[in-house]
Amino acid sequence: MTAPDKRLSLCAEFVRPGARLADIGTDHAYLPVWLCQNGICPSAIAADINPEPLSRGAATIAAAGMEGRVTARLSDGLAAVSGDEVDDIVIAGMGGELITRIIGACAFARDPDKRWILQPMTKSEALIRWLSENGYGILRQDCCVAAGKCYTVICAAYMNKPNNSDELYPYLGELSPRNNKTHLRFVEGHIDRLSKMARGDARFAVLAERLKEACCDDRR
Ligand SMILES: C[S@@+](CC[C@H](N)C(=O)[O-])C[C@H]1O[C@@H](n2cnc3c(N)ncnc32)[C@H](O)[C@@H]1O
Repeated sequence: MTAPDKRLSLCAEFVRPGARLADIGTDHAYLPVWLCQNGICPSAIAADINPEPLSRGAATIAAAGMEGRVTARLSDGLAAVSGDEVDDIVIAGMGGELITRIIGACAFARDPDKRWILQPMTKSEALIRWLSENGYGILRQDCCVAAGKCYTVICAAYMNKPNNSDELYPYLGELSPRNNKTHLRFVEGHIDRLSKMARGDARFAVLAERLKEACCDDRR
């Protein structure tokens, strides 16, 4: 199989070599097949809540001859996945709020040995806020541009960490917009959205201004 696009490749970079993977909301199963084919993961569960995308995933697995290593499984979030089976969990291509609900409903969500590799399509700020309020730390965060759109990927672990109450944290996370142009582009997306929301609520204007300062001010 050819390498997945930049968005899924960035998710792949965050997976620990040797980790048993669960890819939740797998659809086409490109990521788990690629990670197993390339020797990064010994095994993977490709899970989806809907039979139709799951059958697409099963077809990718069969075409790659990876049935012995990658298992297609019908599952709402991690409901049909046991903590004993997996080390790293990827949840990519969903809204940030749905990702929080999937983690929150998982029986082993607070196992500090698990790694959560998260790629929200929208509302990354809601996801980061939830992670911070629920004791998770962000170990790594990066951004990429794929097909003209800018995405962020987060690697988080449960650490019983105190909440980061800085109101900019949900927007900045662990990004460095002053030093990295792709990070800057991602944060500028937040600034644009906040500026639009400021037309109905002036508090968003203050937040947008503070975020602009954080992108160019060394004293943050
Ligand atoms: C846009 S696709 C993302 C596919 C792939 N992960 C990617 O990033 O390219 C979202 C997938 O998530 C699945 N999904 C939505 N809610 C889910 C849930 N609660 N549990 C598991 N899968 C879910 C959908 O059926 C769909 O196949």
